[in-house]
This record gives sequence, structure tokens and C-alpha cells, in this order.
Amino acid sequence: FHVDDDATASDKGAYDFFMLKEIDEQPGVIRGLEQTYIAQDGQIEVDDKLMSAMNQADRLYIVAAGTSYNAGLVGKNIFEKLAAVPTEVHIASEFGYNMPLLSEKPFFIFLTQSGETADSREVLAKVNQLGYESLTITNVPNSTLSREATYTMLLNAGPEIAVASTKAYTAQIAAETILAKGLGMLKVTPAAAEFDTAFELTKAANAIQTLVDQKDIVEDLAATHLSTTRNAFYIGRGIDYQTAIEASLKLKEVSYVQTEGFASGELKHGTISLIEENTPVIAIITDQKTAELTRSNEQEVISRGASVINIVSENLAEEDDQIVLPAVHQLLTPLAAIIPAQLLAYYTSKERGYDVDKPRNLAKSVTVE
Ligand code: G6P
Repeated sequence: FHVDDDATASDKGAYDFFMLKEIDEQPGVIRGLEQTYIAQDGQIEVDDKLMSAMNQADRLYIVAAGTSYNAGLVGKNIFEKLAAVPTEVHIASEFGYNMPLLSEKPFFIFLTQSGETADSREVLAKVNQLGYESLTITNVPNSTLSREATYTMLLNAGPEIAVASTKAYTAQIAAETILAKGLGMLKVTPAAAEFDTAFELTKAANAIQTLVDQKDIVEDLAATHLSTTRNAFYIGRGIDYQTAIEASLKLKEVSYVQTEGFASGELKHGTISLIEENTPVIAIITDQKTAELTRSNEQEVISRGASVINIVSENLAEEDDQIVLPAVHQLLTPLAAIIPAQLLAYYTSKERGYDVDKPRNLAKSVTVE
């Protein structure tokens, strides 16, 4: 494990841990990406050659590890909806040794906070051997994956010191949104034409600000539901399931609570047998199409004794829902929904007395396969 040399205690300012500081920085990071990549008139300003390489592809392959992989899952939805391009997301360590059948004209996107993850580097080396073009979306200029890919898009999120990634995840989703809009405009999709990127990202940044300003609610929920439990579940459907996967990774990696993210409709096919008296189940509900279904899945776990926390979009909220998310565009709800989950992970770890920034057995940047 290594922490950046310039990251001294004083960089934390008034914060006990970098993780909370980095959670709080997220609205600013998203606004920064808007300023860098969106012109006043709403045009997407990224390298023309990159956009045209992506436009020539018949399929996007997102390759990543850990939290970056989870940002890729959210990105798939955004690329397919805004740019109407089929998108696959792959775990780097799997792709490297069991390459799927590629389309005729693949384009590869490497998501990596550090730009140094060995599993992703291994795939990029193969992609280069095969002669395909690629983009690395990273937080670290001149990192290995940045140098070895054809194109780079920088997240400019500032150093991320806590091992558990927070601001890089939301920055990656914002970057994918910007690219998907640019690509959708080239492909003249109605969805891209209707999507006002700066407006929607600003709205998401404001929603994140509101949520980080309500830390007390989350701190109390962590204390009452998660301070002593051995396991927990996040559930959701569709895009909320993608958020549930990252939410569960956050909680398990910093608090050591065994946590899984499940598609809520899948619970009844096996996992529900794990529900006992007081097992925490956290539901993410941001999509009108699936809200009622997830709520009925929740009733199934409540009747088996689960203690539930609901993270719900404003327009779908009911009286007893503990965490209400300000309205954001349907494609960007993961940007809002992940914030309470990051905070739940943080406060659970802190409450249990762990070193939140340096969870056992984990490294910020994993340079071995
Ligand atoms: C490590 C870190 C994770 C991170 C993953 C991928 O496992 O602990 O937080 O998500 O590597 O890192 P990358 O730098 O490629 O995004």
C-alpha cells in the first residue's frame, strides 16, 4: 500500500479522513468537468479525432477493475441510451485471459483512477497488439494506461488518497456522460439532441451538494442499522442495481460488513434465504418503472425480519423513506444515489473504529495481476 508522498495530515484540513473530504469534493469535481469539456453553447469539447474514432466503432468495450468497473456499468446505460451504441463492460482481470468474441469494429475504453492497474494494463497491451484504438479515462496524467492508449480523457478530480474510491467514480460517470452526448450528437440520436449535458450535470452536482449537507441523517442510520451487523444487502433494479453494486463495494471494503448488491427481483431465487431478524437491506429506488416492484421485494424481506433503509428519488418518495434524493435526470440518478451509500460506508467504518482511509488488505493502486 502506498499513499501519495505529498498527502500529509494537513491536507485533510478539518477532516478526520480523506474519504469524507473526497466525498465532499464531488460537486466541485463535476462542475470542473463541465468547464473543461463543455463549451458555453453546450458543444462537447473533446478531441475530434477521439470522437470520430468512437463514431466509427460498432461496439464499445469498457474495461476496468473495482469501482472503475462499477462506473463502467453505469456508463453502458448512458452510452446505449444517449449514443445508441452497443456497449459491453468487462472486468479487466477476466477479459485479459478470456477475451470475448469482438465485434468487427471495436473501440476500447479503459476506466482507471490511477492509470496503473496491472489487470487493465494487460488488456490494453493485447488491444494494442491487435491494432485497435483505445481511450483511457483517468485521474492521473501521464500514467501508464494514459501513455499506452491512443487517447486520454482526464478526470481532473485532484488526488484521491482514500483507498475506497468516491470522487473518481462520480467523475468517471460524468466523463462518460459527456462522451456519450458528443457521440450521440455525431450519430444524430434524438436522445442526445434532447439531453442538455451542462444543465443535467449541474443539477446532479447540486443534488450531491444537498446530500453531503445532510450527513447527520446518514450518520444516524449507520449507527442504528449497521454498527454491529455482520452482513447487509443493497437491492435495486435496472440502473439502481448498478448503483447497488458500487454501494455494496463501498460498504464492504471500508467496514468489513459482508455486503452484496443484488437485482431485487433476483433475491427470491436464492439470496432471500440469508435474510434473518434485523439483517439490513438497503433499497435504491430512482426509477418509476421499477419502484413498485422493488418495494414489493422489500416487503418480502421485511416479512422475514429485515430492517430496511430506503434511498429514494424525490418524485417516488413515501412517508417512511429515510433518504430522499433531489431530482436529477433519470440517466444520472447513480450520481445522486451513490452519495448516501458512500456516507453510510464512511460512518459505519468510523463507528466501528477502523482506519477508514486504509482498509486492511487493500491498496489504492494494484500493480500486480
Ligand atoms: C484498487 C482500489 C480500488 C479501485 C481499483 C481499480 O483495487 O482499491 O478502489 O477501484 O483498484 O483502480 P483504478 O485505479 O484502475 O481505477
